[in-house]
Amino acid sequence: MNVLMITESCFGNTSRIAEAIASGLRARNATVTIAAAASGPALDGVDLLILGAPTHNMGLPSPASRRQAGEKGGQAPATGMAEWLEAHPGDPGCRVVAFDTVTGTGFFNGSAAKAIEKRLRRRSVSVTARESFLVTSTQGPLADGEADRAEQWGASLL
Ligand SMILES: Cc1cc2nc3c(=O)[nH]c(=O)nc-3n(C[C@H](O)[C@H](O)[C@H](O)COP(=O)(O)O)c2cc1C
Repeated sequence: MNVLMITESCFGNTSRIAEAIASGLRARNATVTIAAAASGPALDGVDLLILGAPTHNMGLPSPASRRQAGEKGGQAPATGMAEWLEAHPGDPGCRVVAFDTVTGTGFFNGSAAKAIEKRLRRRSVSVTARESFLVTSTQGPLADGEADRAEQWGASLL
């Protein structure tokens, strides 16, 4: 099973979750590549595509919200998941799942993963699993147990 995980992260928390998901997948013998959305990875030979991003303003990070993250001490990439999705229109031709990081799970927290699902639904691509992982504040760290939960979620995808 060839897994490509494409992520965006400003403070490193989404990247930490991505590593934990990858551990769960590798424990089940999957081959996992993690790439930053800004690096524009291609989809050749991918069986499972995992898309992950931090939740900004209830949805996907934008240039403005990345700038705000930078002002709060983050290392914001020049482009991210929203731009990667724009640059890769159409059906990726493999199973797709999505995850995000959030500071809470209430309605007003929103979800970047939900935004990914919505954008893909517009082009008739289904997201078959979606999960949010909790950080304790804008900068993090991850809430207790979230890395373990991410590892288990990764393993559950196979
Ligand atoms: C500009 C900005 C807007 C944010 N908006 C939300 C939000 O609407 N809901 C939420 O739960 N968290 C929000 N957050 C907190 C982020 O979800 C948190 O910084 C992120 O999960 C950390 O992941 P990262 O370390 O990968 O960047 C926001 C953070 C920033 C910088």
